[in-house]
Amino acid sequence: MELVSLVQCLRIAADQPEPELIERAAALLRAGELVAFPTETVYGLGAHALQADAVAKIFRAKGRPANNPLIAHVADMAMAHQLVTTWSPVAERLATAFWPGPLTLVLPRHPDVPLAVTAGLDGVGVRMPAHPVARALIAAAGCPIAAPSANPYMGVSPTQAAHVLRGMQSSPEPILVLDGGNTDVGLESTVLDLRSEQPTVLRPGGLSVERLRSVLGDVRLLGEDAGRHALPSPGLAQRHYAPRARVRLFESCGALQTAYEHARLLDERVALLLCTCELSADTGAVFLGLDPVEYGRELYARLHALDEQGVEQIFVELPPDTTPWLAVRDRLRRASTSA
Ligand code: TXA
Ligand code: MG
Repeated sequence: MELVSLVQCLRIAADQPEPELIERAAALLRAGELVAFPTETVYGLGAHALQADAVAKIFRAKGRPANNPLIAHVADMAMAHQLVTTWSPVAERLATAFWPGPLTLVLPRHPDVPLAVTAGLDGVGVRMPAHPVARALIAAAGCPIAAPSANPYMGVSPTQAAHVLRGMQSSPEPILVLDGGNTDVGLESTVLDLRSEQPTVLRPGGLSVERLRSVLGDVRLLGEDAGRHALPSPGLAQRHYAPRARVRLFESCGALQTAYEHARLLDERVALLLCTCELSADTGAVFLGLDPVEYGRELYARLHALDEQGVEQIFVELPPDTTPWLAVRDRLRRASTSA
């Protein structure tokens, strides 16, 4: 039997997307089909956010449990207002400062938003992405687009179309992938809950906490172990963003080196992701440096590549435990948590 993948890919110009390609993809979205597209953070797997049947296809394609809410992506402020019952002054300030960009605001859900999008919750995550392809696509579709990261459930988010194609190749649902090259931020958006008195970061991400504080004054962070207790956001499962290889985290170069030498004695295929440790060149170590923005941009592409190479373990030198590294450390911690 011939196996034909239901996933098709089209190259599109990232800066000035071709209108005919955008229109083709937008027509699929309006018809309730799935389109994967680049955003400035990671690739999203999009469907018409106001059609429950279309949204259900996202969950089937990803193998994602229904209790994990999706972000609704908008092209303009009018679309954002449609999705919520209250647009607060704080939301307005944040949107003015950071939209379009890597910030998702959780606000009270409007009844028109299907519960399938919010996983039955009364809050809805809304984001206006900055990538020209995402913006043009949502505007052309004329409706908000629900989109999780375009990877199978629990996997590493895609920062290139090739990652989407590899991850989703056996999707039971047809998907058109728009290939707009590498994404710029490389980590998912920051998710901020605005429904309580004090804004709370549910997921650190592409917009730094420092920048949020510059507009809001203080923001609350969910504690390091929040994922183990009652989850305000069910999508924040402990193990997430994980490659096939086992990820082990090290606070010190000495401990990492000892573990590495031990693994080599056992002939294990180990890759190293470092930021400062100096190990000999023949380890083939990957250096991601000490700039959290650069590190975040590169991390997922490195994890995808190491999986492609079939390494068994990835030893990671943890970057500093400081605020600028919150998102990177969060993803590394989740990638290293066993299922
Ligand atoms: O950068 C991003 O956010 C990417 C691009 C495609 O926009 N999207 C993304 O979606 O990362 P996803 O589904 O992989 O992660 C969204 C997370 C959920 O797992 C959940 O933690 C949180 O955002 N979230 C979404 N809607 C929520 C809601 N109504 N209440 C609480 N948390 C929500
Ligand atoms: Mg995801």
